[in-house]
Amino acid sequence: MMDNRKRRKICVECRFTICMKPESHQRMYVHDFDDKEGSATLVFSLPEKVGALADALKVFEKNKVNLHHIESRPSRELKDCYEFFVSCDNVRGGLQETVDDLKGCTNHLQVLSRKHQDQKDGVPWFPRMIRDLDRFANQILSYGSELEADHPGFKDPVYRTRRKEFADIAFHYKHGEPIPKVKYTDAEIKTWSTIFKELTKLYPTHACREFNHIFPLLVDNCGFREDNVPQLQDISNFLKDCTGFQLRPVAGLLSSRDFLAGLAFRVFHSTQYIRHGSKPMYTPEPDVCHELLGHVPLFADPTFAQFSQEIGLASLGAPDEYVQKLATLYWFTVEFGLCRQEGQLKAYGAGLLSSFGELQYCLSDKPEVRPFDPAKTSVQTYPITSFQPVYFAAESFDSAKDKVREFAAIIPRPFSVRYNAYTQSVEVLNSKEQIIDLARAIRGDLSLLEDALKKVE
Ligand SMILES: [Fe+2]
Repeated sequence: MMDNRKRRKICVECRFTICMKPESHQRMYVHDFDDKEGSATLVFSLPEKVGALADALKVFEKNKVNLHHIESRPSRELKDCYEFFVSCDNVRGGLQETVDDLKGCTNHLQVLSRKHQDQKDGVPWFPRMIRDLDRFANQILSYGSELEADHPGFKDPVYRTRRKEFADIAFHYKHGEPIPKVKYTDAEIKTWSTIFKELTKLYPTHACREFNHIFPLLVDNCGFREDNVPQLQDISNFLKDCTGFQLRPVAGLLSSRDFLAGLAFRVFHSTQYIRHGSKPMYTPEPDVCHELLGHVPLFADPTFAQFSQEIGLASLGAPDEYVQKLATLYWFTVEFGLCRQEGQLKAYGAGLLSSFGELQYCLSDKPEVRPFDPAKTSVQTYPITSFQPVYFAAESFDSAKDKVREFAAIIPRPFSVRYNAYTQSVEVLNSKEQIIDLARAIRGDLSLLEDALKKVE
């Protein structure tokens, strides 16, 4: 498909723009850069010597660029160097100068921002082909192996080394490759086992019908057992057979826009590492227990898969404020959703189904439960480090899907999008010819429907 980003060359190996050393495929990429207002994320390397970082930061100060976030790690590529990951804004328009100046004092520089310079006709860039998702691997908001000081594994060098191994798998993964299998250690299996044992006691009474239908299939087909951490590739194969969903490994948190874009292709970005063993019932971030026990089962349900994809499709090319609203809808459904079944509330959100404490709390009389209504749900504020004070209950996945579709229709976009499962690509419907093609495809489906109806009469 034609690349619509202007003045760019795409490195066929890494699919980043203007790879500086494509012949050796070094991690040295620089984007063409012309925005005056957008924020940006930069990654650059500096030699390990006193004052190197201070000199680099003076460049930001000189050009009046504000830093919002900075992280560091030893460089994986360059000996005796440190790599810095920096988020900054461009409110005063000095970002281009900063990038130019940094080129003179860093060993490598990578500009990751796509927020504004990837816009075309005011529409933010979005992936059109499933392999475009490879671009997100290097755009995580935090390093998968860099832990905050209050993380349970912060002071554990063995755990931190292990997290780096998982992060490297995700960084190097490309669409179409098998997800590398991991040999989980005895300590990791013990952590999984503790969580698995406790949660599976609650599922029959607390989880929704669809979840309880699928869970035994995962036991039979994907090695969901107390003494075994299932492998992402086995699960991905299973999901593909059920609904066309698939997993791909991710090193850390993606932006809402990138994460939701994956859902548009029925791709779920899944972590592969496990939480620290000292606190098996707590994790400050998604881990493999959350993904596999919380998310995976329902991605095998056709209606839920369609519902998730609808949120993803709605996000493509949407303005930032609507992506935020869709991310909030995702939070109150895919992560913390409740539904009514046979007059009773049941949990279907992954944040509930992977938390022993909150799964019991959410169905108690303590929290408030409101009907799922995208216009209201999408603007509800929520805490991220404590149990939710408010949940939203859907009548069914089908009704939630229809409501999200109605909500998507009000998103200001100059086009509609349709997922083509044959080519695993997103088609942008913004011309008469494309819409006529769509009408032809629908006519074909309608005659098939008519024929099938006649045969069952
Ligand atoms: Fe999640």
